Amino acid sequence: MKLLPPRRFSPLNRRLTHGLDEKHETLERHSLALTLGILVTVAIGGIVEIAPLFYLENTIEKVEGMRPYTPLELAGRNVYIREGCYVCHSQMVRPLRDEVERYGHYSLAAESMYDHPFQWGSKRTGPDLARVGGKYSDAWHVDHLKDPQSMVPESVMPPYAFLADNKLHYETIGDHLKALRFEGVPYTDEMIENAKADLIAQADPDADYDAQDALVARYEEAAGREGSVRIADYDGNPDKVTELDALVAYLQMVGTLVDFSTYEADDLDNRR
Ligand code: HEC
Repeated sequence: MKLLPPRRFSPLNRRLTHGLDEKHETLERHSLALTLGILVTVAIGGIVEIAPLFYLENTIEKVEGMRPYTPLELAGRNVYIREGCYVCHSQMVRPLRDEVERYGHYSLAAESMYDHPFQWGSKRTGPDLARVGGKYSDAWHVDHLKDPQSMVPESVMPPYAFLADNKLHYETIGDHLKALRFEGVPYTDEMIENAKADLIAQADPDADYDAQDALVARYEEAAGREGSVRIADYDGNPDKVTELDALVAYLQMVGTLVDFSTYEADDLDNRR
């Protein structure tokens, strides 16, 4: 068998690469030079990716309909976090066909822009909840939370009946809004001042109508569209505002703020 001469020394190859092969060989034979070369190359790649983030105030695209949570929804979110619902439920629909067919439109980054901390999660003992808002009636949620097996016999979800007895402590809700404003959620002074009144107004359809109108006006203006603030006696008990009221108000809002009926998937702006 006739051995071919090493390729890199062929005159044709040298002419084609202008001797670059040999220069690279020098680099490959000096480990220190190679290490420095790798460091410089990786550093350039890193800077190109990271540097723009120092200049951009926000990397999340604005999406119409997103608004800060109302005080009642926020109180419900706090109950959700306190009870560790995220241990079994994620809140992010991935852009995969099976998930979109099961849960609905995949989640947008903007949909969790006011979540501090976010609830994406990675554990799904139960189903994803990112699009659960409006899927069931308030009464279904109340029955399901009090006794999950009464609605889904094979469910392994624990019961949360005590939430129906627990009076919601909302005395400090204004401070929660203030703290979130510090994190960048655009709560206005007016929203913070009226947090307690807004919370009560949303949980009681028979309460002061002026307070209800003020609540709806405040949060719909922030949303830029109508119909995103719902007032209801969520737990079906008109006597007091309970933790169950707040949790159901939160669950019924999750995933409904962005109106996907007007979303055009074929629009060039939405293709990437
Ligand atoms: C031990 C795990 C576990 C925990 C903790 C848990 N769940 Fe569930 N959840 C499930 C399972 C399993 C299901 C599916 C069966 C069913 O509907 O009960 C479910 C279903 C649900 C559903 C219905 C979803 C749908 O689309 O049908 C909602 C809403 C829900 N859970 C809310 C909550 C809330 C709120 C909490 C916290 C207070 C919570 N879960 C805590 C396991 C859990």
